[in-house]
Amino acid sequence: MNLPDGPKTSPRLLNQFETDPLAFMDTMGDRYGDIFTIMADSIPLVIISNPEGMKQIFTNAKEITASGKLNQGGESVVGKYGLLALDGLRHRNRRKLLMSPMRETQTQEYGRHICRVTEKVMNQLTIGKSFLAYPTMQKITLEVVLPSLFGLHQGERYEQFRQLFSNLISYARSRWLDISLSYPFLKKDLGRWSPWGYWLHLQRQFDSLLHIEIEERHQQVNPLRSDVLSELVLACDEMGQPMTYEYIRDLFPSLLFGGQDASATAISWSLYWIHSVPGIRDRLLEELDSLGESLEPAKIIALPYLNAVCNESLRIYPTQVVTFPRLVESPIEVMDYKLDPGTVVRGCIYLTHQREDLYPQPKQFRPERFLEKEYSPYEFLPFGGGARRCPGELLALFEMKLVLATILSRYQLALAHKRVEKPKARGVNYPPASGLKMVMLGSR
Ligand code: HEM
Repeated sequence: MNLPDGPKTSPRLLNQFETDPLAFMDTMGDRYGDIFTIMADSIPLVIISNPEGMKQIFTNAKEITASGKLNQGGESVVGKYGLLALDGLRHRNRRKLLMSPMRETQTQEYGRHICRVTEKVMNQLTIGKSFLAYPTMQKITLEVVLPSLFGLHQGERYEQFRQLFSNLISYARSRWLDISLSYPFLKKDLGRWSPWGYWLHLQRQFDSLLHIEIEERHQQVNPLRSDVLSELVLACDEMGQPMTYEYIRDLFPSLLFGGQDASATAISWSLYWIHSVPGIRDRLLEELDSLGESLEPAKIIALPYLNAVCNESLRIYPTQVVTFPRLVESPIEVMDYKLDPGTVVRGCIYLTHQREDLYPQPKQFRPERFLEKEYSPYEFLPFGGGARRCPGELLALFEMKLVLATILSRYQLALAHKRVEKPKARGVNYPPASGLKMVMLGSR
């Protein structure tokens, strides 16, 4: 094996990786170019930001796998049978089941739901007062994902799921859960007022709501229902057996976390760039106004400048800095380096999107680049690629465009500060560190 060069692992370096991964990646990219190795304990972690290398990671499925073992640390939060913990045939099969209903979300009805939810949440803001954009977008994106996953658009059950998921997601990100996961002696059910006990209490609430939904689908099969849960209830696993309750349940946490957090991160960054770079908002409004009074979802998603703004936001600060890890299973040569089995490989989405040769003046927010040039899936990859390519991509882009179009055409917002926003890790995503303070100036 001849590993690419890389930094000597030191506590300072590891600290920078934890606290400011983008600055860390910039330094590593400048120093070592588009492939380098970080030694994590004794396991080499190879980071790649070269499109050819990226293509190899995503397409050499026999030699480099999307091993579920590498993601098993998060099992307590995202489930033993969640997509991230699976690989091979099982992973492929479950993805197929999820993706067929998720592809069907680009409908007029779903689009209207997204616009309605956006207006509902934005109308709760007080004119003249500041608000944090990121948690506000999280409220919207949580409600947006519910019809796709459970077929719920409104009503009592919708409210129960909404409230429960909001609690689950914020507790999953809290220090309390972190503490009980770090110290095994705290991972005990000491009632709902104890850190681990509260997490189990939320899980039990989820179980009981999910059982009701599943029971209803068993009692009354409705072939017209096209949500993820309805698909799973009728589906078989790879052995031809009906999906067990655990298999079904464990698929939802990663969809919820991905569905809510990544989308809220992407929309918050778009709001930041739209309101901080001169001319972007005006040009977007001109494009939106050209559609007339009725904002039809199908017409909004086809707008070229809006599409370019979304892409440029996802380019400059991708929601995930790196792809999920991949494992070398049999010897393979990647960009002239011979990698041995056991080597872990990650594509660095951020550094690929910062390449001068692909994106001249990469630190500048310039949506026009997406109108002037088409990028390959290995040059522009905000949703990753290969076996773990984001299954929510279509929903996410549909949602991003409709939420932004509704906010821009109905409200006037401004940034509360002129300062430069930095991304900060929150789970696997990188939203604005401050939460992005904005002011609601009024309606438009
Ligand atoms: C703008 C919004 C989003 C972005 C930028 C995004 C980005 C990503 C990225 C980079 C990955 C890793 C891919 C890889 O390792 O190659 C991923 C995986 C994933 N995403 Fe998303 N995502 C978004 C929205 C969503 C939505 C809306 C959902 C679900 C409703 C979702 C669910 C998932 C899941 C379950 C995975 C893991 C897939 C697997 O293990 O097979 N994401 N996403």
